[in-house]
Amino acid sequence: MQKITLGAMPFMSVMPTLLVGANVKGKPNYMTAAWATVACMAPAMVCVAVNKMRYTAKGIEENKTFSLNIPSANQVVETDHCGLVSGSQEDKSEIFRSFYGKLKTAPLAEECPINIECRLFKSVDCGSHLLYIGEVVEIHADTACVTDGKPDITKINPIVYAQLTYFDVGKQVDRAFSAGKKYTKK
Ligand SMILES: Cc1cc2nc3c(=O)[nH]c(=O)nc-3n(C[C@H](O)[C@H](O)[C@H](O)COP(=O)(O)O)c2cc1C
Repeated sequence: MQKITLGAMPFMSVMPTLLVGANVKGKPNYMTAAWATVACMAPAMVCVAVNKMRYTAKGIEENKTFSLNIPSANQVVETDHCGLVSGSQEDKSEIFRSFYGKLKTAPLAEECPINIECRLFKSVDCGSHLLYIGEVVEIHADTACVTDGKPDITKINPIVYAQLTYFDVGKQVDRAFSAGKKYTKK
């Protein structure tokens, strides 16, 4: 394997495609985000990097709450639209039907199979982006997308983002915390 250097860039192999929900001036707004992941197990936390210019950032700062909504592959058009237009230019409150959970101020997109309700734990100013770390207060799941009490990605059919392209999950390669048991020293 011959390596070349590509310079510093915020690269990850694949990313999730999510919708960050926040109330801005009392109205729901949804923003597409791919720079998001799990942050902590106990307490349960997730995080998302939001550019300081985003309308969504205003809502998170205003309420100290937000949601991460996981759309299915069949919602790719609505999802991408939320990443093309800003709530500062166009009202995005009607793209999804919104409902509220425990926090009352984090809008949850009814049509998305999974909604993660978050209370802002901390924001880290990284430069262009604020890393919002949210404590998960509840997960709302479509019953059709749950197996044995857990979200099931084979049913959710989430959108994977990489290289300016949306993909689906693809096929299983092996089982985690298990495949490594087949390792033998060379
Ligand atoms: C696939 C995709 C992923 C994106 N990921 C992020 C992200 O992680 N963080 C971010 O700040 N903007 C991201 N954006 C850009 C915002 O979604 C876009 O600027 C949006 O219009 C902001 O909406 P708002 O101003 O209503 O908050 C992404 C856009 C797309 C299409």
